[in-house]
Amino acid sequence: MGLLARAFSSFSKTIPIHVSKLPIDTTKLHLINQKVHGELGPIYAEKLGPDVNALWIACPKITEKLFRNEPEHPIHVVPQCWQEFNKRFNVKRGLFFLDGPEWQEMRSKMNPIFLKKNQWLAEALSHSNKVTDTLINDLKGQTEVDLEQILHKWSVESTLATLYGNCCQSTDSLNSFVQNVHQMFSSSAKLQTQSAFLAAETQTQDWLNFCSAAQEALAFLNSNLTKESKGLTGGVLSNVFTNEEISRIAQDLIIAAADTTSYTLLWALYHMATNKSWQEGEIKHKEVIRESMRISPVAPFLTRIQQKPLEAEEYFIDEGQLILVSIYAMGHDNSCFPNPEQFDPRRWSRDPESGKLKGVNDAFASLPFGFGTRSCIGKRLAEQQMEYFLNKFFATFELDVLNRVQYEMKLIGVPDARINFKLIQKKK
Ligand code: HEM
Repeated sequence: MGLLARAFSSFSKTIPIHVSKLPIDTTKLHLINQKVHGELGPIYAEKLGPDVNALWIACPKITEKLFRNEPEHPIHVVPQCWQEFNKRFNVKRGLFFLDGPEWQEMRSKMNPIFLKKNQWLAEALSHSNKVTDTLINDLKGQTEVDLEQILHKWSVESTLATLYGNCCQSTDSLNSFVQNVHQMFSSSAKLQTQSAFLAAETQTQDWLNFCSAAQEALAFLNSNLTKESKGLTGGVLSNVFTNEEISRIAQDLIIAAADTTSYTLLWALYHMATNKSWQEGEIKHKEVIRESMRISPVAPFLTRIQQKPLEAEEYFIDEGQLILVSIYAMGHDNSCFPNPEQFDPRRWSRDPESGKLKGVNDAFASLPFGFGTRSCIGKRLAEQQMEYFLNKFFATFELDVLNRVQYEMKLIGVPDARINFKLIQKKK
């Protein structure tokens, strides 16, 4: 019996099936998914390829049960072209690409360094804060700026600074690295709907673009590893990892951080600029980031391969099932967030009497960094870098926006056009 059939012949509620209309516009996947949930409910199955049967979930209760019952070594889905690239070019990568005990060994050594409050991370962050201070200073006197480009470079420089201390790369090589990481994300988004194996065999343009971007990005990072490091790689990481492991870890962290942190910050600035009243008075930028990630999560879906059967909210989920958690759809669901289209950072503050979040019915409906043992290792770093940036930025500037953009998917959630921001320097 096939996986899908077994999932449907469960003793509990029947899971509806959605048959996708081909070709799928992958840039609108989040909207298609949201619409189908609206029609079929919080869970549905869909055939995504000859052997790929997915279960989409947009229910915070099922999501919570799923993540709270995770196995020792949770498995997520890695874009096929990235795997194909690693195989063909014999590239060994870090955490994101590992599974089983090998993943756990690396992860358990990294968790105390990256996810707990500690002096190494605080010191590393002090290096990246200097990158932010320099940028804010450079922006003074400018009005119309391309913050998307600026933030990509800021994000790479900040992560390099946390890992190596002061970043001393030339502007040109940094710019081309930023472009290459970009290219990797956009080519993998295009390769998503094709077989990566066939694309590689027939050397399609998307595959060639992906390979040259990935090779150049990795070469840039390798050249960085030779210099003496005053950041995490030279200090605490070298106590627990070999040089070869550190090099793999650093490569993956920089690539994982580049577009995620920059686009999350770009969305936060966009929401603040389109809802200008939040720029006045006291505001916790931590809540701004949280709210912006609810509306515009860079990761609109979370993935897992279910490793043991699970019963959740009267549904039966079978072993081996591919799960896609619909983070974007839940973030825009009015049963989870009253007035979901309204940008309201205060919904993330707690009512002093009840202790409950003010405008959030179930926090499991917004998991921008994932959840559990396989969640984002860079969460603490990214949150602190972004909060520091916003505190400094809004202490110095008022921000306007001259156009409106939509959220679209290019593997991650990005604006569908360039955002034209206008900076106004505040008077002292
Ligand atoms: C706002 C910025 C970021 C967002 C929204 C984000 C989001 C995510 C998400 C959703 C996952 C998958 C979690 C899951 O499946 O449960 C993930 C994994 C990961 N992230 Fe991030 N991330 C961000 C920044 C960073 C940074 C700064 C780093 C590194 C310094 C990083 C490194 C990683 C790695 C290595 C993994 C794989 C973890 C594993 O497989 O054990 N991320 N991230």
